[in-house]
Amino acid sequence: MGLRGTYRERTVEYKVPKNLTFPYVFGVLALITFALQIISGTILVMYYKPVITHAFDSVNYTIMKEIDFGWLFRHIHAAGANFFLAIVYLHMFTGIYYNAYKKPRELVWIVGWLIYFTLLVTALTGYLLPWGQLSYWGTVVITEIPTSLADAPILKDFFGAIGETISMWMKGGYRLEDLALGRFFGLHVILLPLLLLGLVSIHLFLVRAAGISNPEGYEIDKEKEPEKVVPFHPYVTLKEGAIAMWYLALFFFFVFFYMHHFLPPDNFEPADPLKTPPHIAPEWYLLGFYEVFRSIPSKFWGFVAFNLILLLLLLLPFLDFSPIKSARRRPLFFVMFVVFVISCMALTILGTMSPTPTNAKLGMFFTALVFLFFLSLPVISVIEWGWYKTKGGQA
Ligand code: HEM
Repeated sequence: MGLRGTYRERTVEYKVPKNLTFPYVFGVLALITFALQIISGTILVMYYKPVITHAFDSVNYTIMKEIDFGWLFRHIHAAGANFFLAIVYLHMFTGIYYNAYKKPRELVWIVGWLIYFTLLVTALTGYLLPWGQLSYWGTVVITEIPTSLADAPILKDFFGAIGETISMWMKGGYRLEDLALGRFFGLHVILLPLLLLGLVSIHLFLVRAAGISNPEGYEIDKEKEPEKVVPFHPYVTLKEGAIAMWYLALFFFFVFFYMHHFLPPDNFEPADPLKTPPHIAPEWYLLGFYEVFRSIPSKFWGFVAFNLILLLLLLLPFLDFSPIKSARRRPLFFVMFVVFVISCMALTILGTMSPTPTNAKLGMFFTALVFLFFLSLPVISVIEWGWYKTKGGQA
């Protein structure tokens, strides 16, 4: 089968930049977490029952109490979902910081964005499955969001009908019931993981094809500059393997000792459509978008704003057309990157708080800063093209 040749080609003969920094490990950590999710998810699906009369008990009694080590696999899966999104966010921020979305890696970024979006939908569909109070009401909040289109300044009926249709389609009726649970289950265990698997494979193929970027932002010619690269094995495998061990130690520390962060007490109460819990908010990885949505006074514009942020994120390679790469060599970009990171964190924190008028104003302020980051990119690019030309095309 020529396996020995393939092994050499993929490991010892495959060269990567020597100067890769710590954050370059997040891609591999995301891969490890993905594997953990597939394994633990497969065990859970053996005992889970996707009907509203049995779903809660199948998770909280059968899996948590009756099946040997069922609790362990549930803990791994619930903590894994949070770790997965945290790692993917860190991976995305790394890509933005080092401008890894730029030529020749635009497609790596676009496929990465598709992974991110699919991952959010996967998390959303999985959240409903335990059929606890938080699962139920969290999903109610999210599935009601499209109805805000009815608040449109013009063509209210038209937009309202679209929003209502999307919401009804997500819920499978006026209320979340068996139909919704069955659909969410099917998507969560079959279609979305398959999609993720396909997208991650394409992503890795594209990373190989374009080559990994490097913190300095110069493209390395592996033939002409052999002193700037090292073989993937044993250098990167050992370095990232060691970091992966630390990561797993941290992960399992949470799994064994700190699970109340990932399985909040409210979700140990079965879903009750007649009893709304006092504080319902989406999971932390959606809070930034949720805060953008609710801090803008018009629901319609709130809906448009958070969708626009998702779109701008996708279009990043085209908004930032400066020939210079990496925040290390781009002072203006560096400042805007810091503004962006702080704003994302502030929006996430505000999302956990009650929507007082002051918090809403702060929410609007940080939303404006997020837009400022995206809109500043073409301006910074034009300025940097000027510098680039005066330096005789030296990026
Ligand atoms: C399941 C989720 C994901 C996995 C397993 C994954 C895996 C990887 C791996 C192993 C690499 C190569 C090494 C590295 O830079 O870490 C990589 C690179 C990259 N990924 Fe991902 N990734 C995922 C999600 C994403 C997302 C959501 C984005 C952006 C929206 C993204 C954007 C990129 C970019 C731009 C690179 C190139 C980095 C460079 O060349 O410096 N990835 N990914």
